[in-house]
Amino acid sequence: MKFHIETFGCQMNENDTGRIQYLLENVGYEKTEEIEASDIIILNTCTVRESAKNRQYGHIGNLKKIKNLKKDVLICIGGCAAQDLKEKIIKDFPYVDIVFGTHNIADLPDLINRRISTGKSICSIENNGHDPGLFKVRRKHSFRALVSIIIGCNNCCSYCIVPAVRGNEISIEEEKILKNIEELVSDGAIEITLLGQNVNSYGKNLAESCTFPELLKKISAIKGLKRIRFMTSHPKDFSDELVDVIRDNDNIAKHIHLPLQAGSDKILKEMNRSYTRKGYFDIIKNIRNKIPDCAITTDIIVGFPGEEKKDFLQTLDMVKKIRFNRAFTFIYSPRTGTRAAGIEDRIPLVEKKKWFRQLLEIQNTISFEENNKLIGRKFEVLVEGRSSKNNDLLEGRMENNTIINFEGEENLIGKIVPVIVMDARTFYVKGKLA
Ligand code: 5AD
Ligand code: SF4
Repeated sequence: MKFHIETFGCQMNENDTGRIQYLLENVGYEKTEEIEASDIIILNTCTVRESAKNRQYGHIGNLKKIKNLKKDVLICIGGCAAQDLKEKIIKDFPYVDIVFGTHNIADLPDLINRRISTGKSICSIENNGHDPGLFKVRRKHSFRALVSIIIGCNNCCSYCIVPAVRGNEISIEEEKILKNIEELVSDGAIEITLLGQNVNSYGKNLAESCTFPELLKKISAIKGLKRIRFMTSHPKDFSDELVDVIRDNDNIAKHIHLPLQAGSDKILKEMNRSYTRKGYFDIIKNIRNKIPDCAITTDIIVGFPGEEKKDFLQTLDMVKKIRFNRAFTFIYSPRTGTRAAGIEDRIPLVEKKKWFRQLLEIQNTISFEENNKLIGRKFEVLVEGRSSKNNDLLEGRMENNTIINFEGEENLIGKIVPVIVMDARTFYVKGKLA
């Protein structure tokens, strides 16, 4: 049997997809990129914003055509939207065979067998207490690996549905993580990305206490590991010690993704983010003092309920002063069950869209200008493959996470090579091998 899998959302989902692939291959199924050729179609969904959920709902709707043509094909919906909507998915799309939650991935091969033998659709969402520890994952590239170090989230950002779907925070034991990364490195990985909704909160619930900076230091000492990335950091738990560890260890990438979300203290309070404008500025100042070359990227939400023009201007002000290398910007999307969904929202969507475009324009100019500053400098680049836009070029990532395209031979893929930046665009730069 062949399976086809599509992934939406964040790197957590990407990692879960790798796990699903490993599990299914382990029981003899074969992965295919062609949806029409598959016997099992799996969508690994995201529900962080309504627009993403709607797009995926459209996608599930389109699968009906395939099911009509091929009755035996199994349609399986997993991930965060599945965890959130549960049986409703089967109610809305009766031809869906299996709905499985974010805690039920390990059961998927059994669920498929059960579906085939009983002929009844299944919704498996309850947390069945599987060990949340590290899992075998089929990697997209042998030289890169994602490693979840903390799952779930204990924060209560008032706009966010993630804690409801991913559950409470659980840190994976330090020894398990170190052993897992050592195995990955001996299996060819030279870059590891540590994942968690809030990696800075790592270790809080462990019997043997270990903070994120302590863990990072130990991971950094693993021989053969060339590059360590991590995301996401929450400003409220971002310590001075972490900045020191990043500065002092060459194999920790000089890039920090630090979601700002909003620039006004009133809105940050309403969002329940537990830091202020000044607190965020102080973290940035500290990073820039200690690691001048560190890239800083962020997430920003525009149009949170109750946000007024003057609050939005404070966000713009922070963006202009901090000069993020890149910002992922979103228009606020109400999520059922979150506290913010109950707050009165008087600003019309057209106005929010205007603010959003203004923010985007300013941030794009800043990203372009910051990329231009890299011209003429040499950087170590991990070559990831061929450029999706131009197959003649290689594409890689600089240590600071900037994407770079350059001419080079196929055999450089998976290696770290020195590249000089020659030209800049808003979202990437062009270079030549040094
Ligand atoms: N509406 C808009 N953006 C959201 N995000 C999370 N929840 C929402 C929401 N309800 C954004 C945040 C977060 C990123 C992953 O998605 O900026 O950091
Ligand atoms: Fe990732 Fe959150 Fe989307 Fe789930 S809801 S896929 S955790 S971004």
